[in-house]
Order: sequence, then C-alpha cells, then structure tokens
Amino acid sequence: MVRKKILITGGAGMIGKAVIKTLFNKYDLIVLDTNGQIDRNKKFLEKLRNKNFKYFKINILNKKKLNKYFKKVNYVIHLAAMLGVKNTEDNQKKCWKINYEGTRNVLEASLTHKVEKFIFSSSSEVYGEQISKKKIIETSPLLGSNVYARSKIESEKLIIDKLHNKKTKFTILRLFNTYGENQVAQFFIPKLCYSFKYNKKFTINGNGSQLRSYAFCDDIAEGIKCCLIKKKSNNKIYNLGNSQQVFSLKKVAQKISKINKKKKVNIVFSRNFNKGDRKKEREIFQRVCDIKKIKKELNYDPKINLSDGLKKVLEQKKIYKNWP
Ligand SMILES: NC(=O)c1ccc[n+]([C@@H]2O[C@H](COP(=O)([O-])OP(=O)(O)OC[C@H]3O[C@@H](n4cnc5c(N)ncnc54)[C@H](O)[C@@H]3O)[C@@H](O)[C@H]2O)c1
Repeated sequence: MVRKKILITGGAGMIGKAVIKTLFNKYDLIVLDTNGQIDRNKKFLEKLRNKNFKYFKINILNKKKLNKYFKKVNYVIHLAAMLGVKNTEDNQKKCWKINYEGTRNVLEASLTHKVEKFIFSSSSEVYGEQISKKKIIETSPLLGSNVYARSKIESEKLIIDKLHNKKTKFTILRLFNTYGENQVAQFFIPKLCYSFKYNKKFTINGNGSQLRSYAFCDDIAEGIKCCLIKKKSNNKIYNLGNSQQVFSLKKVAQKISKINKKKKVNIVFSRNFNKGDRKKEREIFQRVCDIKKIKKELNYDPKINLSDGLKKVLEQKKIYKNWP
C-alpha cells in the first residue's frame, strides 16, 4: 500500500515532536520549522531522517518557498504558531503575522495542492474567561480577546470560509493546556519543573486555586491521529485535552514535591499578580475542558495522568528556558 504523506508545520515544537513519534511508522512525514528550532532539535530529527522522513528550515511567512513542500501531500497538520501570553502580548504584530497570515499561507498552499485534509491547532484561549463555571464545550461563547486568542479565532473563521464546499476537509482542534517534554519554561508546568530542577524560586500568581485541565503531549498527538484516520472528524471543531486531569496550580506544585521527596518546590505567592504574565483582571480562574464530543465521535481517550507526565518532564536532561 502507498504510504500517505503528511506535512507538519511547527513540527520541531513540543506537540510536533510527539506527533512525529506517533505517526512516523505509518506515514511519510515532511516537517517544517524555523532555523532555530530545527537546530535545537537536530539530533532528534537527524536520527529519523530517511526517505520517508524529511525536515526543512522554512518560515511559514515565506509564501513562495513554502509552496514547493506541498507536492503530493495528502494531509497537513498545521501547528506552527507564536505562543505564550506574555510573549504574544509583547509582540502583537508578530503574533498576528505568524498565527493569522502564516495560517493563511499554509491554507492556501494546501488548497493549491489539493490536500485531502487540513488539521488546525486552535486553542482554548478562544474561549477566554467564561461566565459559567461549567466545563467548556465547543459551543461555549468565544470570549478570548488577547491577540493570541483573536489570531486563533480569525484563523478558524478563515479555514471554515476557504474550505466551504471544497474537496479539502478540515478539523479544528481547540487544545487545552498541554505540557510535555521539549516545552520551553514559559508555561506553568515546565516553568515549575525548571524551578524545581535548578533550585529556583517559583512564583504563583494569586492564591494558586486557579483550575486547569492538563493533557500530556503524547495524548494530544493521539487526538490528532484520530482526526487523520476518522472521516467523522471532517469539517468539525473539537475540544482536545484531558478532562480527567483537573488540578489547581497549587496542587500541581504539591505533586512535583511528592515525586522527588528529597526537595520541595520553593513557592512564593504573588497575590497582586505583580510577576504574572497576565494581569489580575485578565487571569483565567477556571479553564476545564469538556471532551465528550471527541470521545464519542472519534473514540479519543487520553491516558497519561499528571503525575506520570510530570515525571517525564522532570526526567529530561535539560529544560530550555525560552524558544531559540
Ligand atoms: N501547548 C499548549 O498548551 C497549546 C494549547 C493550545 C494550543 N496550542 C497550539 O498547538 C500548536 C503547537 O504548540 P506547541 O505547544 O507545540 O508549541 P511550540 O512552541 O513548542 O511549537 C510551535 C512551533 O512552531 C514553530 N514556528 C513558530 N513560528 C514559525 C514560523 N513563522 N514558521 C515556521 N515555524 C514556526 C516554532 O519554532 C515551534 O517549533 C500551536 O499552534 C499552539 O498555538 C498549544
């Protein structure tokens, strides 16, 4: 049987690498990412390189160059994006360019080359701070207002609009807090693990009771795989996360201390959010996913609990503080 060919943008990132590991055996893969990220992950990528696995340094904003990698591609998994609340708010124009215009470029190249399926990694940020304290479902209002949220909301609209009545099908996945190996210490879990590993103080903004659902990157990669192989996911939007692993920030910190009993996380609380990425008025106090839809329609079933996932993050030789 002829192997299907998948192009993954942002493929050297945290989720990208988990996706590669999940799909490597059954598909031909083309990975696109920036110079810095490819260089940082060269060892991992080089090990896999063969006639079925190729990777290239390419910025998705380079429309002309981008096009040539889409020849004979069956599926596109578009993960490339600029992330991080502070990072994106401090660089709003750049965020909009990469996340919205970049998505448009990848989408147009996909249409030109008539790919069968376009999978887009949107974000739970699109939901913003919900008024209801219930778990968030796909029809919950899109209240996200920061530039990152807006870039994802508008990208979703663009995809739905451009692929309306087209042979190229799409799946939009709204990812909830995802963590794992290779994630830079700009997000809660890797930041916490970084502080623990390198004996630094860790600041929790507020009283630490903020609730999140945490999904390990390998489970997210399985969710993406479900969308590739199941036609039922065509032209649908799904929440993707782990609704079983819901913890407060404080509880996550306690779990880390339990893993390595020899030391404790040195936590300080900043009640006024002085050191936070988000100001107090923009903090999300509860963001918990409802994943009934993807479970029911695609049999998605996340398996990795937070303690096991945290161990994997802590076992890494090195946790990078920032993107390259
Ligand atoms: N990690 C999460 O909690 C989370 C939550 C919601 C949504 N998402 C989405 O999932 C996707 C993957 O996120 P991740 O956690 O793996 O982040 P990541 O930062 O590890 O990966 C993103 C990758 O995109 C690449 N990239 C950025 N700009 C690029 C450009 N101009 N051209 C080519 N490549 C570029 C980066 O180098 C990086 O490798 C993103 O679209 C993100 O918005 C992630």
